[in-house]
Amino acid sequence: MIGICQTITVFERADEVGGVWRENYSGFGAQVKRDQYSFVELCRHSGLDTYPTGRQLKAHCDTYVETFGLMPAIRTRTEVKFLQRCPHCWRVVYSETGSSETYTEEFDFVVLAVGNFSEKYVPEIPGSDAFAGSILHSSELQDEKLLRGRHVIVVGFGKSAIDCFALASTEAESVTLIARRPAWILPQRFLGLPLEWLASTRWFAKLVFPPYHNACLLMRLLGYIVLPLQTALWWVLAPLVWCHFLLPWSMWPAYGLRWQLWHGHSVSICNASKIKAVFRSVKTHCIRGHISEMKSGSVLVQDSIQKQEKEISADVVVFATGYREAWSKLFDVKAAALLDPRKDGPDLYKLILPTGDITNLAFLGRVLSTCDIVTSFVQAEWLAGLLAGKFEYPSLQVRERFSAKYRAWRLRFAPTATSTFLATPSVHSYFDELLSDLHSKTLVDRHPPAWKFRLLHQFLPLRASNFAKLRQQRGAKKPSLVALRSESGTSDVSQV
Ligand SMILES: Cc1cc2nc3c(=O)[nH]c(=O)nc-3n(C[C@H](O)[C@H](O)[C@H](O)COP(=O)(O)OP(=O)(O)OC[C@H]3O[C@@H](n4cnc5c(N)ncnc54)[C@H](O)[C@@H]3O)c2cc1C
Ligand SMILES: NC(=O)c1ccc[n+]([C@@H]2O[C@H](COP(=O)([O-])OP(=O)(O)OC[C@H]3O[C@@H](n4cnc5c(N)ncnc54)[C@H](OP(=O)(O)O)[C@@H]3O)[C@@H](O)[C@H]2O)c1
Repeated sequence: MIGICQTITVFERADEVGGVWRENYSGFGAQVKRDQYSFVELCRHSGLDTYPTGRQLKAHCDTYVETFGLMPAIRTRTEVKFLQRCPHCWRVVYSETGSSETYTEEFDFVVLAVGNFSEKYVPEIPGSDAFAGSILHSSELQDEKLLRGRHVIVVGFGKSAIDCFALASTEAESVTLIARRPAWILPQRFLGLPLEWLASTRWFAKLVFPPYHNACLLMRLLGYIVLPLQTALWWVLAPLVWCHFLLPWSMWPAYGLRWQLWHGHSVSICNASKIKAVFRSVKTHCIRGHISEMKSGSVLVQDSIQKQEKEISADVVVFATGYREAWSKLFDVKAAALLDPRKDGPDLYKLILPTGDITNLAFLGRVLSTCDIVTSFVQAEWLAGLLAGKFEYPSLQVRERFSAKYRAWRLRFAPTATSTFLATPSVHSYFDELLSDLHSKTLVDRHPPAWKFRLLHQFLPLRASNFAKLRQQRGAKKPSLVALRSESGTSDVSQV
């Protein structure tokens, strides 16, 4: 948004930029390849490994900030405490991180990009105060030496849990994975083919998922006709995925594969032979169940397969139990209710702008797509286009109409998913939707004759480099300021 807004201030509560890539468990990194997880502007010479490590991605963020001279706009060690709506602006209440003294500044537009994984979640378990060993959240397992020669328990079945389980299997005396609802793990290569050639392509999305909410009537009808065929296909795909890992039967997933992917559960993509070896190691055990109580040197586990209680010795318990959302506490009750009327996540126009009577606020990065860095880039370009006046600020009616349509579509196919849910292969359709507002295309209009590339486009996995053109187009545009209309009045964008 540099060049569009008069001034931009970025509040970051940590000492440095990098978000989740600043620190996490030992050996953490991206589960998708660098082609899909790197900054669009730097993707051609990113210096990242094929599967980038967390450290490399942190350096990648630093390089980005340096390349575009962003540091003067960023206030590190500054935590936003509260966002208050005023008639013509947003009042931002912030403090130095860790301090109770607060300051206030006014801004015309606020972009919320607080991430989905910045508030750790550890469940409260009876007896945890009496536990003599260490209790860690997965993100705190930064030194595997902590586990050396210990009896370790890992709780959860997300990507963090699988990785911490694998890490512990190399260091600990014994490690037990306790999962209340095991989930599907996807292999990096499926039937010998890199996973992205299936999961990140348009043709696969059309083959196995219902049409996107904005599909034409014909496509929607076709979607209903092929639904039984799709169901049959998922029945074939699921055992094939399972065969890559051959985990113990107690870890058979709690949901169907389509249900898990389509309902927005997080996806773990792993090296199949490595994970197979971890589960087969004599040091590792797994239990389907949950911890009901912690004692001084052990935990009580309710095994839901054997229907019995087990006591397991433990020196270290790693809770890989995920994260909580971080945005709602920044608003008062009334604004939070307007933003999240159904308590299933913020209701957002094009998954960016609030659909209720709240303007000059945008959410970036709420959508999870496994190529989040590219998704946030396309969203930011859309937002920059909006602020530069490339298209009109959608009225309350337009936003509400979108909300009703998107919600109806989501509830039909993914009733338990959160409001900003998007199945990974559908991300193409989402990008098309945003790019059509910008009157912009990616690969298709770069390589005439278009029809051949339109066809090729169906089979190519999504890549960050596809979007380089979008950035070039923006680079040529003159800086401009727009007046954004709130439902009650107007306010000029001078600061973001
Ligand atoms: C271990 C791990 C691996 C992942 N791997 C992948 C992957 O392979 N592919 C993928 O697509 N996604 C992956 N993700 C998801 C990842 O979170 C996103 O891809 C990406 O980090 C989102 O960036 P973001 O800037 O939106 O959020 P974040 O990286 O979470 O950054 C949010 C920033 O906001 C700051 N902040 C929060 N609240 C405040 C406040 N009140 N005031 C000031 N600052 C605040 C935080 O300090 C943080 O720096 C992974 C996540 C984790 C935890
Ligand atoms: N690229 C990578 O290598 C990588 C690494 C780590 C994380 N990530 C991403 O980061 C995000 C977070 O991943 P994550 O693995 O940390 O968290 P997650 O995907 O949210 O998984 C949390 C796990 O903890 C379980 N859980 C939650 N509350 C529990 C409770 N009270 N008792 C017992 N179990 C509980 C959940 O089980 P239920 O299903 O039963 O709720 C789930 O299995 C995901 O999007 C993931 O893809 C990526």
